[in-house]
Amino acid sequence: MNIMSQSVFSPYLVRKILSPVVVAGLLIFQTTSLFGKEQKVETAACDEIALNRALGQCKACHSVEKGETHLTGPNLHNVYGRQAGKVRGFNFTGDLKAAKFKWDDEKLDRFLADPRSLFPNTAMAFGGVEQETERVALVCYFRSQTKRY
Ligand code: HEC
Repeated sequence: MNIMSQSVFSPYLVRKILSPVVVAGLLIFQTTSLFGKEQKVETAACDEIALNRALGQCKACHSVEKGETHLTGPNLHNVYGRQAGKVRGFNFTGDLKAAKFKWDDEKLDRFLADPRSLFPNTAMAFGGVEQETERVALVCYFRSQTKRY
């Protein structure tokens, strides 16, 4: 019995087995909690007034909540980080179907400022969001909503 407990709790074993596990656990814990904090800060940092003003226009053609049906445009849940023009159940125009990028800050900003500058033949009949503060708020919102970092 003595020998058993000695070997189980020997400093050697603690160093060899327990500490790497604890260290790994701590690292995972720290990374996830840091990540969580970062996301909260970002969401809180979105300019709500500008966002509501801009998002209202999009909602004429887009649903934004998970699982909602496509309207004139595709559902925008999780659009940030998603492949452009590839939402199941929505028939995009050729331009978007052929797109080979994921939506990020830069691409979204450009598309929202002037959809035709990115896709000359897009069916998104929308002149664009002129105000930079509104585009920043929209991109901030889509980034904070996504599960695809
Ligand atoms: C008049 C309707 C209309 C309005 C208003 C509109 N959209 Fe769209 N949107 C569309 C259509 C239609 C498409 C698909 C375009 C295509 O296939 O060429 C689209 C596509 C998109 C895409 C590409 C989605 C993907 O998965 O690749 C994004 C992003 C987008 N819209 C964001 C917005 C945002 C943000 C707003 C508000 C600022 C907005 N749209 C306003 C109709 C609209």
